[in-house]
Amino acid sequence: MRKKFIAGNWKMNTRSIDGELLAADVVKGLGSGSNVTVAVCPPFPFLARIAQVVKGTSVALGAQNCYPKDDGAFTGEVSPAMLVDVGCAYVIIGHSERRQFFHDTNDFVNAKVHAALKAGLQVILCIGETLDDRKSNRTEAVLDAQLTGSLAKITSVELAKMVIAYEPVWAIGTGVNATPQQAQDAHAFVRRRVAQLCGDAAAHALVIQYGGSVKPDNAATLLNQPDVDGALVGGASLKADDFLAIVRAGVR
Ligand code: 13P
Repeated sequence: MRKKFIAGNWKMNTRSIDGELLAADVVKGLGSGSNVTVAVCPPFPFLARIAQVVKGTSVALGAQNCYPKDDGAFTGEVSPAMLVDVGCAYVIIGHSERRQFFHDTNDFVNAKVHAALKAGLQVILCIGETLDDRKSNRTEAVLDAQLTGSLAKITSVELAKMVIAYEPVWAIGTGVNATPQQAQDAHAFVRRRVAQLCGDAAAHALVIQYGGSVKPDNAATLLNQPDVDGALVGGASLKADDFLAIVRAGVR
């Protein structure tokens, strides 16, 4: 059975002191652990300090992006090796906000995925359709293109170090979450497609998170769907109580 995985994507929020307090509250609330994998993904400047807060606890650290080179003349960018160096276990790649505002293409996302895996990070790969895509019945075609492009030349062994987050763009930060059935349908499609790309066993073991307005009051029904293996939480991850309630909704 796949272990549920709840990750908090803090996006461009917090200052160092409240980020540290938030991480400390999550650590405290989680205690010695549960049968759920938990990670927090703070902004770059706070990673090293929050690494100290979560060190030796059952909360893992993730970053929100990376550049697909180890070092070099890439002003303003952060390499996967640097993220490992400061204590990250995970990196979010291909978030819709990066695709939308920073024009990350599937090819660029794929390059980042390869670089992150090579550096030893586990990747949370985000995919998801816009409202226009859904209204025009293109959801599966868009997910297909994102999966095919972002997973190009990824082996089944590499896929074992990956998580896919299905985040419908229309549900992000809007308060309108996908219904449990919409989420289940999309997740089942993703798993079928990944099976074609990387094999049945790898697809079966793959953790697929849902993201988009996950809150304490809708988490349990979403997480009860057979192919929903966790959540990538934005807004609600900024309040320790809400985030911990979502984690508890994933405990079996
Ligand atoms: P919200 O939970 O704020 O809708 O954000 C979801 C998200 O984008 C997580 O990566």
